[in-house]
Amino acid sequence: MNPQFAALYGPVAEDLILVEDMLESTKQVQIAPLKRMLDHALQGRGKRMRPALVLLAGTFGDYALNRLVPLGAAIELLHTASLVHDDVVDGAVSRRGRPTANAAFDNALTVLLGDYMFANAAEMVTRTGSLHVTRLFALALMKMTSGELDQDAAAFDVGKDIQNYLWRIGGKTAALFETAGEGGASLASCDQATVEAFRTYGYSLGMAFQIVDDILDFTGDEAEMGKPVGSDLREGTITLPGLLLLERQPKNNPIGKFFAAHRNKEQRLQEAIEYVRGSGALATSMDMARTYVTRANEAIAACPRTEAHAILMRLGEYVLGRTS
Ligand code: IPE
Ligand code: IPE
Ligand code: MG
Ligand code: MG
Repeated sequence: MNPQFAALYGPVAEDLILVEDMLESTKQVQIAPLKRMLDHALQGRGKRMRPALVLLAGTFGDYALNRLVPLGAAIELLHTASLVHDDVVDGAVSRRGRPTANAAFDNALTVLLGDYMFANAAEMVTRTGSLHVTRLFALALMKMTSGELDQDAAAFDVGKDIQNYLWRIGGKTAALFETAGEGGASLASCDQATVEAFRTYGYSLGMAFQIVDDILDFTGDEAEMGKPVGSDLREGTITLPGLLLLERQPKNNPIGKFFAAHRNKEQRLQEAIEYVRGSGALATSMDMARTYVTRANEAIAACPRTEAHAILMRLGEYVLGRTS
């Protein structure tokens, strides 16, 4: 494990290696073209934040790795599969510092690769032996897909509001963090109040995580992020900073002008991006992300002050300050 993440995930960092091993085992397939694609998709390492959350939540109950590790691996595999499909939808060429599967192969094969990974993740989650957690997992994927479809339907539409945005990111991103927290606590047989606390923690952290991701699309460094930046507006996706500005200035807004432009589209796009960067909307968005982190921390305030608790409190700060 990357030393930065070993420090970030504290007491569960060692056990995340078991999650890595389970992810690694999914590459053991006979069909050569599938193996080639799985090797490619699983080579780039992400931050492993969702499986870390599964294990951290699990420390508050019966820390049974034979159930927690399959859930952590299943959630990370589901997440990676959703990125494989997201990159097809977005036409993205890089991810985790490497060419995307759709860039290395083609869209049709990449869709099938994502399908295979989703199915493999579903098989893994059954190894938890919990029908309840298996159901949470399926519901999360339904919400993620609904969020992604809503994003597509809202593209280039300046009439959508912040409420709609929050619903969308609640589905496409927060639902999986929520499942990681709730599922981890549930598999560890925590009491109902603790399970509920981790459900809220995961959801709120996930909301902050996506808001920051959307800020980083304006301010982040492509090499550090390992994926394209500055691409949301280009694709017609209006995230929180843009929505705040459209609310304040619905007419004659550079975002609307870019969408309506028939000529000089590239120049209009750069003007829209500069307008967002030069406004206070990025700071206001960061304030909203901070509010979600506070909500996450408050949710677990009644939990015992263990090392895992301290790590969870720090995770929110990491999410707010992250640059990759
Ligand atoms: C990327 O998630 C997709 C979003 C929800 C913004 P991560 O930033 O957790 O991706 P990896 O797993 O570290 O690559
Ligand atoms: C998150 O949305 C993707 C999923 C949750 C599947 P983004 O489109 O913002 O993610 P990136 O920026 O491509 O990682
Ligand atoms: Mg994307
Ligand atoms: Mg993004």
